[in-house]
Amino acid sequence: MQSGLKNSKYESQIVSRPLVSLDPTQRAWIEISGKSIEHNVRKIKSLLTNSCKFMAVVKADGYGHDAKFVSQNAIKGGADNLGVATLQEGLYLRSEGIKVPILILGNIYTIEDLLICFQNNLMPTISDIEQCNICNQIGKKYEKLFYVHLKIDTGMSRLGFGAKNFVKYFENIISFENIKIDGIYSHLSCADALDASHENSYANIQRRTFLQLLSNVSIKKYPNIKLHLANSAGTLLGNDFHFDMVRVGLCMYGYNPSKYQINLKLKPAMSLKSKVSFIRIVDKKVGVSYGKNFITSKKTKLAVISIGYADGIYRSLSNKISLIHKGKMYPQIGSITMDQLMIDITGVNDVNIGDTVILLGYDNGKCVSPIDWADAASTVPWEILCAFKNRLPRVRI
Ligand SMILES: Cc1ncc(COP(=O)(O)O)c(C=O)c1O
Repeated sequence: MQSGLKNSKYESQIVSRPLVSLDPTQRAWIEISGKSIEHNVRKIKSLLTNSCKFMAVVKADGYGHDAKFVSQNAIKGGADNLGVATLQEGLYLRSEGIKVPILILGNIYTIEDLLICFQNNLMPTISDIEQCNICNQIGKKYEKLFYVHLKIDTGMSRLGFGAKNFVKYFENIISFENIKIDGIYSHLSCADALDASHENSYANIQRRTFLQLLSNVSIKKYPNIKLHLANSAGTLLGNDFHFDMVRVGLCMYGYNPSKYQINLKLKPAMSLKSKVSFIRIVDKKVGVSYGKNFITSKKTKLAVISIGYADGIYRSLSNKISLIHKGKMYPQIGSITMDQLMIDITGVNDVNIGDTVILLGYDNGKCVSPIDWADAASTVPWEILCAFKNRLPRVRI
């Protein structure tokens, strides 16, 4: 059993980052800056009132950044709560000695899992009365309070009590002797939309629904219950969205969820780097990589880089991204392959085998962000960050 963890059922699934014994910067790697995480938490906290808490969202291994390292640095910056998606993610952080309150944002519904949650001091998200009954029974059996957060669906249509059920069951839940409602929350679905700050935006409609439902259950009678609504984009919408706590992911990692929002001068915490493994010159009208979907228009010098889609770089980014070498940008050409990709270095003499190239990050005023990749691959930066595989060692700096 992992240190201090109660109930071993998930022991084999608690994923710690693999130890890297060889030089982790040999082929391709991710550098994570703890100082940037700390800086970003402080920056975002400067928007909040002193009493407003900060939940660092570290699910999906801290958006691919290493959940333990991110949590430690977020706490240094002033985060006082953590949010994870799964029971296993919560257990992992507890097994690593992290002590702050942890909320599981996903749904836990079996008696067994709720018991493990309780025994390891993790808070579940509750979306129906049946889960409340189970939590109360568990608390009763162990003669303790089971700390939970209730979720209300205000328009995301994912987890949470429907409006009617929330109002119908609230008194009932409050009266359970072995449940402590630590928080009540909802989740915004469109806080990064262009019109999000307008009075009649969907974000504002959700906010007003949240307020209305809380007022219907006379929430003012329960000042100790933490109310929370905002993700990163919601946090940037201003104080009306902050309530007692904000739940911040993307901004903490250094990226704005939308170009329409205030620029907080956040620092990207992740850099993705690799090495030049080979250099070759090919003639005019030669196909580069699988499918020959790039044909050279002139004699072309290529550098082969040791990273590919097996590391989590989408193949759909082929021919659409640029890499940085010594402060200059070079276009990636041809299909990205499983383990390698090519860049065009025609006319350049200072690229050598063994040199480091930056795929995401910055150098000498040049910058490539997951937002650029997300735009190019028609997805969102969250997905780009979460796609990186464990084959890429995380180097903590
Ligand atoms: C319930 C909940 N709250 C907060 C967040 C953090 O979102 P963001 O990364 O946009 O800050 C997420 C992430 O998806 C979430 O699911």
